[in-house]
Amino acid sequence: MPYIEWRTTYEVGFKLIDDQHVKLITIMNELYDAQHRGTGQMIVTKSLLELVDYTVYNFSTEEKLFTQYEYPKKIQHMKEHQEFVDKINDLKAEAGKGNLLLSIKTMEYLKDWTINHILGTDKEFGEFVRERELG
Ligand SMILES: [Fe+2]
Repeated sequence: MPYIEWRTTYEVGFKLIDDQHVKLITIMNELYDAQHRGTGQMIVTKSLLELVDYTVYNFSTEEKLFTQYEYPKKIQHMKEHQEFVDKINDLKAEAGKGNLLLSIKTMEYLKDWTINHILGTDKEFGEFVRERELG
């Protein structure tokens, strides 16, 4: 069983975003596996860099949509993104110094933040778009 299992309840109803979230969870599972199997720092670091890059990519996709749909909670949502980006960039910096320690606690943080963000903040945006499109 993967570390995080994708569930249909995670869907925000916006295909582009949902597809990216599936990929994000896949990368997170790979990171967990790399760490868990006790693979070398290089593999764990590579996986972490992929997670940072893809997270930034996913956030920028969402943020473009906020502008496109004139989403009123854009600033608030972007602030949440920034906090998470700061956190994973700290991990990236540690990895760069060769002393990355991905504890269970850190993995749980990454997982919980992502799932909670999808279920709360991202779904809220999905609902906003749906309501707007229904007119
Ligand atoms: Fe988001």
